Amino acid sequence: MYTASAARYDDMKYKRCGKSGLLLPVISLGLWHNFGDMDDFANMQQIIFSAFDCGITHFDLANNYGPPAGEAEINFGKIFKQDLRPYRDEMIISSKAGYYMWPGPYGEWGSRKYLIASLDQSLKRIGVDYVDIFYSHRFDPNTPLEETMMTLDQIVRSGKALYAGISSYDAEQTTKAIAILKSLGTPCLIHQPRYSMYDRWIEQPNAVVNKSVLDILGEEGIGCIAFSPLAQGLLTDKYLETIPAASRVGRGLSNGAISQNDISAAKIEQSRKLNEIAMKRGQSLAQMAIAWLLKDERITSVLVGASSTAQLNENANALKNMDFTHDELYNIEQVLRQ
Ligand SMILES: NC(=O)c1ccc[n+]([C@@H]2O[C@H](COP(=O)([O-])OP(=O)(O)OC[C@H]3O[C@@H](n4cnc5c(N)ncnc54)[C@H](OP(=O)(O)O)[C@@H]3O)[C@@H](O)[C@H]2O)c1
Repeated sequence: MYTASAARYDDMKYKRCGKSGLLLPVISLGLWHNFGDMDDFANMQQIIFSAFDCGITHFDLANNYGPPAGEAEINFGKIFKQDLRPYRDEMIISSKAGYYMWPGPYGEWGSRKYLIASLDQSLKRIGVDYVDIFYSHRFDPNTPLEETMMTLDQIVRSGKALYAGISSYDAEQTTKAIAILKSLGTPCLIHQPRYSMYDRWIEQPNAVVNKSVLDILGEEGIGCIAFSPLAQGLLTDKYLETIPAASRVGRGLSNGAISQNDISAAKIEQSRKLNEIAMKRGQSLAQMAIAWLLKDERITSVLVGASSTAQLNENANALKNMDFTHDELYNIEQVLRQ
């Protein structure tokens, strides 16, 4: 029987999610990988418990995480039921719908039909009455945005989710979604984009609205939680010498995971240089990559994945050095521009 550490709130930092009332840990844990049916259940338990013990209160899921799709919610649900239920009010559990879940015309994208059916399925798999945040996982070009946003509003009003979010919407889509949700009286709490030293698309101004996603979120007072902050492992020291068999690349995973093609000699050289800067700062490359994202006030939290408690603890220890000198930032920028 798990008992949470009494020291769990001693070291973690919590940041307000935009202008909302919700505080999120600056490091959150995502269950996209490592929580499927080929993964070890005891290891999953230890990762979740270690996270909670170091103040990571936020666990991010989606209907399709596994594999197979749904399995991460089932496994998290088992862990929750066995050991975490007493801590429900200390936890922020999120889920999403948008990607393919079941056959036929109602099993993906952004219709009211799909989103509500999918959330009902997620709640059953996890074994909770509500999720804290429910996201539209991706913009649907063929469903009126009003319908998708009205559904998020309806979900929040029904009590099945406490807050609404959007994921991977570009700046134009984000602007429209925020406006619709505002008009409905359910403000957009948070945006979940991919963001790392290696993928900085949310910093780039969009041609139509002439603003970046980050600018919009900052102006509108909406939180931002960055997914794949370690570029799925490229921004750690794990691929600097070889491709470990047990790694995401070594395991040859599909469903959006990085593969051997992403590990070019140029990328490894870049990571090596960044690793040298990190070592001079007295931290690992993973820790520096996390700290680098959090230096921007608009980033509420970074959403890391972990395949072991050692990785999780290493990542949480990024908090020990979050400050950058002017020179360090300059040197990092030089490497990123190569
Ligand atoms: N909204 C969306 O569309 C979307 C898309 C993708 C992800 N997400 C969310 O973001 C979360 C995180 O994504 P991600 O897993 O790609 O994030 P990530 O943190 O960039 O990558 C996690 C992977 O990096 C490796 N790693 C982590 N810490 C390490 C360390 N200290 N040293 C060495 N290797 C380390 C592990 O890979 P190994 O397995 O190789 O050990 C781990 O599985 C997901 O779980 C999900 O919640 C959302």
